[in-house]
Amino acid sequence: MFDGIAERYDLVNRVLTAGGDRRWRRRAARMLAPEDGSQILDLATGTGDLALAVLAEAPGARVAGVDPSPAMLDRAREKMRRAGVSDSVVLELGEGESIPADDGAFDGACVGFGIRNVSDRPRALAELARVVRPGGRVVILELTEPKSGVLAPLARAYIHRGVPRIGALLSGAREYRYLESSIAAFPPPAEFAGMMESAGFEGLEARPLSFGACHLFSGIVKEAR
Ligand SMILES: C[S@@+](CC[C@H](N)C(=O)[O-])C[C@H]1O[C@@H](n2cnc3c(N)ncnc32)[C@H](O)[C@@H]1O
Repeated sequence: MFDGIAERYDLVNRVLTAGGDRRWRRRAARMLAPEDGSQILDLATGTGDLALAVLAEAPGARVAGVDPSPAMLDRAREKMRRAGVSDSVVLELGEGESIPADDGAFDGACVGFGIRNVSDRPRALAELARVVRPGGRVVILELTEPKSGVLAPLARAYIHRGVPRIGALLSGAREYRYLESSIAAFPPPAEFAGMMESAGFEGLEARPLSFGACHLFSGIVKEAR
């Protein structure tokens, strides 16, 4: 599905979130706090915007971007070249349910708007806990449906009516119906944080951004007992 929307993906993101997606990724990269010389995994890297945000935070870090969509990775490759960071990034085909990396290969990992698409989330979270060294941080950014607050009904109307229409208009793709349904189907933030805990993370945080339109989850890989 993502191969079909790769070409216009960045444009649709910018418009649908009124530029908020960039700000949210910067927040995620800051929370991950990568260090120069560290090895970072960007799972579901897509066109590579979160990988670029990580490198903006720590230009000396090395990022592995993993994604199952060849077309999204092609766009990412081109963007890394234009940004002059190709030497700091490795892009690889792969899925969250079976991450192509050794145990403890990374100092930290991030996932931007990607965990929603993974069919077996507990398995992908366990994979993240496997490939990040004990003590390393994993940050997950995901769109959520605001359930409370005065703006919640407005936000829900936008997700259910605005998002599919604007997405289809800009990209010509019906796939943006999927975006709407997958946001609605994502578990409540507290439940997702519980899934992270069960997968082997501790020190969990779930921070709402933009009145809960998005959540920033963070956890530390538990030391082996
Ligand atoms: C909405 S895009 C997010 C891209 C990027 N992280 C960003 O911040 O814009 C979701 C990405 O998840 C990828 N994806 C879909 N299924 C996946 C899976 N099982 N494991 C990992 N990534 C997956 C898609 O190919 C797509 O590139």
